[in-house]
Amino acid sequence: MAKQEEVFKKVISHAKEYGYVFQSSEIYDGLSAVYDYGQNGAELKKNIREYWWNAMVHLNENIVGLDSAIFMHPTTWKASGHVDAFNDPLIDNKDSKKRYRADVLVEDHVAKIEAKIDKEVQKAAKRFGESFDKEQFLTTNARVLGYREKADTIIKRLTRSLEDENLADVRSLIEELEIVCPLSGSKNWTDVKQFNLMFGTQLGASAESAMDLYLRPETAQGIFVNFLNVQKTGRLKIPFGIAQVGKAFRNEIVARQFIFRMREFEQMEMQFFIKPGSQKEWYEYWKEKRMKWHLSLGLGDDNYRFHDHDKLAHYADAAADIEFRFPFGFKELEGIHSRTDFDLANHQKYSGKKLQYFDTDLNESYVPYVVETSIGLDRMFLAVFSKSLVEEELENGSTRTLLKIPAILAPTKAAVLPLVKKDGLPEIAHRIVEDLKWNYNVIYDEKDAIGRRYRRQDAVGTPFCITVDHQTKDDQTVTLRYRDSMDQKRIPLSEVNRTLTSELDMRKWLQKIG
Ligand code: GAP
Repeated sequence: MAKQEEVFKKVISHAKEYGYVFQSSEIYDGLSAVYDYGQNGAELKKNIREYWWNAMVHLNENIVGLDSAIFMHPTTWKASGHVDAFNDPLIDNKDSKKRYRADVLVEDHVAKIEAKIDKEVQKAAKRFGESFDKEQFLTTNARVLGYREKADTIIKRLTRSLEDENLADVRSLIEELEIVCPLSGSKNWTDVKQFNLMFGTQLGASAESAMDLYLRPETAQGIFVNFLNVQKTGRLKIPFGIAQVGKAFRNEIVARQFIFRMREFEQMEMQFFIKPGSQKEWYEYWKEKRMKWHLSLGLGDDNYRFHDHDKLAHYADAAADIEFRFPFGFKELEGIHSRTDFDLANHQKYSGKKLQYFDTDLNESYVPYVVETSIGLDRMFLAVFSKSLVEEELENGSTRTLLKIPAILAPTKAAVLPLVKKDGLPEIAHRIVEDLKWNYNVIYDEKDAIGRRYRRQDAVGTPFCITVDHQTKDDQTVTLRYRDSMDQKRIPLSEVNRTLTSELDMRKWLQKIG
């Protein structure tokens, strides 16, 4: 745990030191759970957004984009269920005065039980060696079965209590499990209360005429209310999808873990409209497709896993998370939800407008079902950034700090470095920058010794350095240095642009998705 915290602290300080993420309004001591993206953060975010948009919109003929407003008619949130059901069950510890999500306290307790199962498996694997059969062990070992039953019983009871809005029972569960406040260590809890996560605001100049609005807590509803506009004007046939990227706002109570849980964040969502009854098939399809998108970035296959939900959101008949191994453990990165016709049917009911699709193949109208993919852009940023930050031991005993951001996402693609600030080398380097900048974000750097400049680019995540030296003047070649391997090779000046094009070809990365 201590090591995890240390790693996470390094991630946060590196993000600040290298112009990726700053605390919002820092000069006024900051605003809790609100962050700004610096010069490199803004580029990384833009590149992740583009990688998602290309994969979802450009590479799928039946998916189109949308950019809907943050402000929506207040009835939207009645129809979507957010006014009544977008709540977190909260509990306060009277000694530490800290507020927690009651369900998360119970889930963390269950995670500890599950960790005991993992420990038993590891011990047994060591004991039995090659002949160890994990599946058999998990289904027959008495101790493991005991832990499993305990964990399942707790989750079942929690799910039932939350579904029944029986908050008194959630509190009893916390008491029975003897869960203590992680900060004070005490069991001195208040009652559990529901807390709505939407931010309210007002539209209009005078108090009498003002209309109460909410800042949208998800981008999805902008897609639902535009479903017929887009379908009709685009003459789209089911199955088809509408994708959008935009800000969402939630008054998160337990807002910690840096940009993992923010009050203002960005979502990349896609609603896929389908024939009722086909949701299972499309749900599986999008689970697999989205996992492949993640794996295409090469951050390590074992850093991802699916987590199927027992406790479903108010709109879903099936839901799974793609979890990522963040510095603080496996946590949700993206959600795939089978939303049935919940949203469209409710908007139809509340607006009095028909939101149906006429299926020419079946010769009938219906309210489509929806499978949604929803990923937080900031969370994806944290996944990429935290997994890319490594400290490497070099052969000479020194360490180098390296930000191995996948080249396709890196803020700056190449740094062009004249070996010295004279002898015409800066002029050649500037000419290279002039040539490359039409296609890529590149920088020129002539300060400090070349070794220090390489280290600086390693730490900021620039995948390629192009060094101009005296030989360049003789034979029109430069040194191309690769960030991750530190390999260097000489290439003709005329090949520089083509080499970058081949390394950074989006097709090369995205075709892994299939
Ligand atoms: N439209 C469905 C929806 O909003 P969600 O699971 O509440 O579902 C989807 O959110 C994704 O949005 C999450 O998987 C996460 O990546 C991101 N997200 C949610 N709340 C967030 C927050 N407070 N800060 C940053 N990202 C958040």
